[in-house]
Amino acid sequence: MRHLAIGVITATIPVILWAQIEGGKTSVQGLMDRIFSNLARITKYSLSEDEFKKKEHEAEIKQLLKDTTQSVKTATQQHELKNPIMKISGEVLATQFADAENAFNSGHKSYARWMVNSSLSICMSCHAQVSKANQPFDDLFRQNNFKEKYDQAELRFVLRNYDKALPMYTELIDNFPTNKLPVEKLETSLKRKVAIFARIKRDPAVAIQALEKDLKNKNIPKYLHKNIESWIALFNEWKKEKDVDVTKLTDSEILKFIEKQMKKDVWDKLQESESPRSVTYLRVSGVLYDYMATHPITKITPEILYYLAICDHELNNNFFYSLAELYLKECVIKYPTSKIAKKCFLKYEDIITSSFTGSAGTDIPDDVQRELKTMSDKINGK
Ligand code: HEC
Repeated sequence: MRHLAIGVITATIPVILWAQIEGGKTSVQGLMDRIFSNLARITKYSLSEDEFKKKEHEAEIKQLLKDTTQSVKTATQQHELKNPIMKISGEVLATQFADAENAFNSGHKSYARWMVNSSLSICMSCHAQVSKANQPFDDLFRQNNFKEKYDQAELRFVLRNYDKALPMYTELIDNFPTNKLPVEKLETSLKRKVAIFARIKRDPAVAIQALEKDLKNKNIPKYLHKNIESWIALFNEWKKEKDVDVTKLTDSEILKFIEKQMKKDVWDKLQESESPRSVTYLRVSGVLYDYMATHPITKITPEILYYLAICDHELNNNFFYSLAELYLKECVIKYPTSKIAKKCFLKYEDIITSSFTGSAGTDIPDDVQRELKTMSDKINGK
């Protein structure tokens, strides 16, 4: 991705933008840098509700949002971000900024601020699809406005600077509770570490060692202790297996591997932790993202969408921004005649139905019901 020929770059970016992008970088990198610099400038205001709403900053924020929306849109049109899976994250981010811009311009500044501040989780979920870590680019980190160690670690994590993020999370966990880190941030710090080990480093032995050290902090709440213990157990299982090399697998081999990994057994029933299989889901989704990146044109795209959706849904926004529903929808709409389309639809229907189910029963809005009907017609060839 880093070594695109200049000819390709000039052909794919509009001339005006090209003039503004630093020389020597690929179009995606140049656009990403630009999006990040814009965000760094916006967060100077968006970290505080008052600052964000001040009249004197209005013109600047407006301009920055406009430029960011445009840059995201251009980025999503680059072929590197266009594989059937990554494309979905790109579209989510483009919608997020377009909505933020519209909200800001029509005076709904609190909503716009919330959209901007929550956009980092979308950046993160796309970046974590790329298994290689990024080299340090400290110049980028100098531009940020975050003061807390935790926020610094998060920023490193978002920008794939995992080698720097990891020791920061470890330090935060070690120093709990003297560092007054709120428990939910402690929990996120632990989950980030698990994600780095299971998704990016894929080294169960190192993961076990690190998590066992974390367990030594007896001040960590009991429910988190239980989670850590089941994560360690799964890394131990993983250690016993041969690892997969996605470049050497065929479509049917990868599906066999996934189906075996996704099977639950008595172990799951015995676990008291809230998300015992997280390590498996992170591992499986990582392998699938890699498979997609190395096999952008594969017949099993709908199956990949299905299993990614299951992983995301089970991880339940706890690790990354969940794209489960979008993956399932893509599977049904784009591949209605595939063998798995029906399963995609049933899972989608199930997720949607339970999200509209409360103590008073199920009440699915009309437009959502219409959407479900359109989808089921599609697989039934109507
Ligand atoms: C659709 C997927 C996707 C989304 C969404 C996304 N990125 Fe990226 N980003 C990438 C890819 C792929 C690269 C790696 C480019 C490479 O290494 O060649 C990257 C790299 C970067 C880089 C490093 C550029 C460099 O010099 O290597 C920065 C900074 C960045 N992204 C910022 C962001 C921010 C901030 C957001 C959210 C507002 C975001 N990205 C959202 C795909 C995405």
